Amino acid sequence: MKKFADYTLMALLAGMLACSNNNEQLVTSPSGEVKVIFSLTADKQPSYRVYFKDSPVIETSTLGFDFKDAPSLSKGMRVDSVLSNEFNETWELPWGEQRLVKNHYNEMKVFLSEKKSPNRHFAVTYRVYDDGIGFRYEFPQQESMGDVTITDENTQFKLTGDHLCWWEPGDWDIYEHLYNTTSFSKIDATKKRNHRDLAQTYIPENAVNTPVTMKTSQGLYLSFHEAAVNNYAGVTLKVDTVNYSMTTELVGNDSGVKVVTKTPFNTPWRMIQLAEKPGDLIESRLILNLNEPNKLGDVSWFKPTKYVGIWWEMHLGKSSWDMASGKHGATTANAKRYIDFAAKNNIGALLVEGWNTGWEHWIGFDDREGVFDFVTPYPDYNLKEVVEYGRKKGVDLIMHHETSSAVTTYDKQLDTAFALISSLNLHMVKTGYVGKIIPKGEYHHGQWMVNHYRRVLEVAAKHKVAVDVHEPFMATGERRTYPNFVSQEGFRGQEFNAWSSDGGNPPEHLAIIPFTCLLAGPMDYTPGIFNTKLKFYKPNNQVNNTLAQQLALYVVIYSPIQMAADLPENYENHPAFQFIRDVGVNWEQTRVLNGEVGDYVTIARQERGTNRWFIGAVTDENSRELRVKLDFLEPGKKYSATLYLDAPDAHWDKNPSAYEIKKMEVDSSTELNLYLAPGGGAAISLFPL
Ligand code: NOJ
Ligand code: CA
Repeated sequence: MKKFADYTLMALLAGMLACSNNNEQLVTSPSGEVKVIFSLTADKQPSYRVYFKDSPVIETSTLGFDFKDAPSLSKGMRVDSVLSNEFNETWELPWGEQRLVKNHYNEMKVFLSEKKSPNRHFAVTYRVYDDGIGFRYEFPQQESMGDVTITDENTQFKLTGDHLCWWEPGDWDIYEHLYNTTSFSKIDATKKRNHRDLAQTYIPENAVNTPVTMKTSQGLYLSFHEAAVNNYAGVTLKVDTVNYSMTTELVGNDSGVKVVTKTPFNTPWRMIQLAEKPGDLIESRLILNLNEPNKLGDVSWFKPTKYVGIWWEMHLGKSSWDMASGKHGATTANAKRYIDFAAKNNIGALLVEGWNTGWEHWIGFDDREGVFDFVTPYPDYNLKEVVEYGRKKGVDLIMHHETSSAVTTYDKQLDTAFALISSLNLHMVKTGYVGKIIPKGEYHHGQWMVNHYRRVLEVAAKHKVAVDVHEPFMATGERRTYPNFVSQEGFRGQEFNAWSSDGGNPPEHLAIIPFTCLLAGPMDYTPGIFNTKLKFYKPNNQVNNTLAQQLALYVVIYSPIQMAADLPENYENHPAFQFIRDVGVNWEQTRVLNGEVGDYVTIARQERGTNRWFIGAVTDENSRELRVKLDFLEPGKKYSATLYLDAPDAHWDKNPSAYEIKKMEVDSSTELNLYLAPGGGAAISLFPL
């Protein structure tokens, strides 16, 4: 991988400071617009505040920790020294929503120590970018701090007002709640429950999961998340609705412990994105820049791809994962049928779920340990034959490991399971963690599981396998370091439309997630349902979008693996399927053309290597006209545009499959007027002539 490094390290020792002053330490972003000021409070507790264009965005917020068997770190600190430097590089993503990423920040490291015994010391490091900030705690090895058990990290974010928030409850187990849109003071995570269809959920506090996005009354957008979580617990943010303040509430386990570690260690980066336009949140690569560079080297064995799956038919109840039901989906013959379909339609891969033994005893059972077997196919599924058949036709198999959250069972089989995948010369697996974690008392987002998910990535990397995690721990930008982490679920996916008892994902859902959870990284929504009324299978469920919006999702939701999720028979001879055949999955650059959180968004992406562009626009339950300038196209070049649009009478509920296809010649001076129906969208392909 090439690295375009213009690396300037200006290590300026800002000087040893007197023991007891509150000297304010300032660091600004390269443009000067974002400022962080570090200081000690009157009782010598570390604190910081943040400004954007000279207006406060985070008011004085304190930092600290509580430990088991050791005094808290909070008051009585002194600043020993401060180190500043600037960093500027451009690096390359092996696959992604863009190829080149600029990483330009100013850094300030504040070295602190306790004035009294046990005289522990640590640093707080701030990295200040033009699009936000990251900061973390760094604990060096030291005599008075060896083994460490953290019972609370108390990092505060004091807001400047009662911002409008797009939030999900701070669930320790799952991110599949719908987003709520309320003012900060109205966040009530423990009440706004939507638990009916969740196989696991635990919301101990009035807290939110991250990313959580907000809009201030001045129109500034903030999004809070974390980057580079490594041997640490995931975070939720506990809200104080009276004082407009949030404090980190790490995900723990039933023993009351949050993190067990030892010095030296760094915490994850606490991250705040700042943007004047909501689309700038999406264009930001702050979360990647806060992660370490690629550790795996060449990952060209992973090819971004579209895929089909023996999958939706199970969610519809047409077939089943298990064999005992008598309607097993994962048969050799069915897999070949899907491979034939994929090969005909420019789709590079097939996911097969329910291929391995154990599905008779997964969801709803307590004793799930020792049940799933990740190397033994059911007798009606000839794994080798399917792989070979696919290979002849240019279609790779995506393997599937549903763990049913019997994590120890999976851990024990990791090496053999991944050895099987690499022995078949395959490079992709989808994993799943449905249900409560065994061992009991652990949660999906706690340190124990963070370490498990990382272990899986590492074993997979050793075998040159890329991973798509369902029921994951939220991505924190680690795909920069481990580019075999290609996608995840981490939100309420399409599957809810097939079976949820609460009406499925409402039309506004897909206008919220690009500005919230998708800021964490690529996600596997599994778009492309054409039979939105789920005719013949699920009369009481439906997809709450128009067909044109289902197409737009291939561009709006970034993932290097994108499923054509519907049954092949629903695509056969369908003119709109051409968009799915054509659409790219790996991008040279990404532009957000317009958007408002929860209302609408339009994104344009240029495919790597072809100079083709694709545009996707989605709206919530309201229809709208969007004016889209094509000024991102190469000047002077003509493009043939195919527009897949909502018909004038389209409607997500009353008339979801009414669409139109229009063709025209366009160039960089063209402006399009797009009509989006209620719950609708638009998908456009632009091929250079
Ligand atoms: C939940 C996943 O999100 C879904 O995609 C999968 O089909 C089931 N688990 C079974 O593994
Ligand atoms: Ca799921």
